[in-house]
Amino acid sequence: MERLPGFRDFYPEPLPHAEAWSADARNHIFRAWRETARRYGFREYDGPPLEPLELFTLKSGEEIVGQLFNFVDKGERAVALRPEMTPTLARMIATSERAYKKPIKWFALPQLFRYEKQQKGRLREHFQLNCDIFGEADTAADAELIALLIDSLRALGLTHEDFVIRLSSRNAWQEFFAARCQDETKAYDFYQVVDKIEREKPEVTAQKLTALGIALDDVKHFIAAGEPTAELRTVIDNLAARGLGAFVKIDYNVIRGLAYYTGVVFEAFDKKGEFRAIAGGGRYNNLVKLISAGKVDLPALGFGMGDVVLLELLKSRGVLPKFTSGVDVVALVEDETLRPETLGLVQQLREAGLAVDYSLVPMKGDKQFKRALELAATHTVRLERGADGAVLAKVKNIQTREEKVVSPTDVIAALGR
Ligand code: HAM
Repeated sequence: MERLPGFRDFYPEPLPHAEAWSADARNHIFRAWRETARRYGFREYDGPPLEPLELFTLKSGEEIVGQLFNFVDKGERAVALRPEMTPTLARMIATSERAYKKPIKWFALPQLFRYEKQQKGRLREHFQLNCDIFGEADTAADAELIALLIDSLRALGLTHEDFVIRLSSRNAWQEFFAARCQDETKAYDFYQVVDKIEREKPEVTAQKLTALGIALDDVKHFIAAGEPTAELRTVIDNLAARGLGAFVKIDYNVIRGLAYYTGVVFEAFDKKGEFRAIAGGGRYNNLVKLISAGKVDLPALGFGMGDVVLLELLKSRGVLPKFTSGVDVVALVEDETLRPETLGLVQQLREAGLAVDYSLVPMKGDKQFKRALELAATHTVRLERGADGAVLAKVKNIQTREEKVVSPTDVIAALGR
């Protein structure tokens, strides 16, 4: 039976074929994400993968809503698999923000679902690191969030030669639009056109802009000038003070497709321009108010980083480690009469925190050793009965082939633990 298009099976390494997705690589990414979020003082949260459809239809904007996996459940509720985490988070904050000191700094690693055309870097399911801050309007928060984004990529071995954060401003674009078109209801249509400007044919863009009373050259000129707003300047200065200046540049091609953004926005891209966006985010100061029907008003900002493009980039830059089984020790059972003692030893080693494997059923000694090599274990341990009938343990370092003969109670010490 085939899996659904755009969905993934994750295998442990070594992978069954070159296109298979690696559960080890996924864990490697998740570990770096969690560890970086921890270093920045962010706390982990989670929410339900299935939500009322309405949560997304109102808040996310047309593009994402057109990509919803939605259906009517057995209780006649219109529901959708979450295509993004932000509306869920805004709801959680709106209901419970009083219980938390501000600024609230939270992260999550949700799996998200979008019914979009499958293409390079875009699937129907992906994981995201989401980091968001609530209750701080100062641009110091924007800089802090962007630093976290940069460091989560650096934690995976990428450098300023591999990626860049393109900084922009919805405010700047909003002012641009307001000076040229009085119909505020058209602003989101305009943002959508700008969002696609790098991917769309210029004639199509020009036509769409003309319909809004705006000239393509005017837009192009604004992008080329790239004049940073005062807000963006403070963000850049803040990042430069941390020594992270080389990771960011102003780029008004970025505007973000989602409807709720309000201020500073940004996207992370690989520097060679080979892949789609690695991450994207920005300010969304009105969303909590919208979701709480005006009851709670908190400034907010955040970003989402997907695992799909990121893994492509890590592979292409050769910065993924070699993944092994993680087994430290293989216990060899060559004398089946010593299996009960070997089980006792295995248990003892596992209780001491070592990863231990052994053959569940009788197997030839050389096959057991070969398996230890395949698992890339560092040591084997084998019990043997000495001439006097006493049980001895032989602890072998697989790499150096050095063998120590010790009492079974001294195995942990002989392993250097
Ligand atoms: P987004 O730009 O829609 O933002 O997604 C963020 C990242 O998720 C993208 O840059 C991309 O790497 C990845 N991504 C998106 N769709 C797919 C897909 N179909 N397949 C693979 N990867 C994908 C958001 O989702 C916002 N909610 C982020 C945010 C959080 N803004 C504020 N807080």
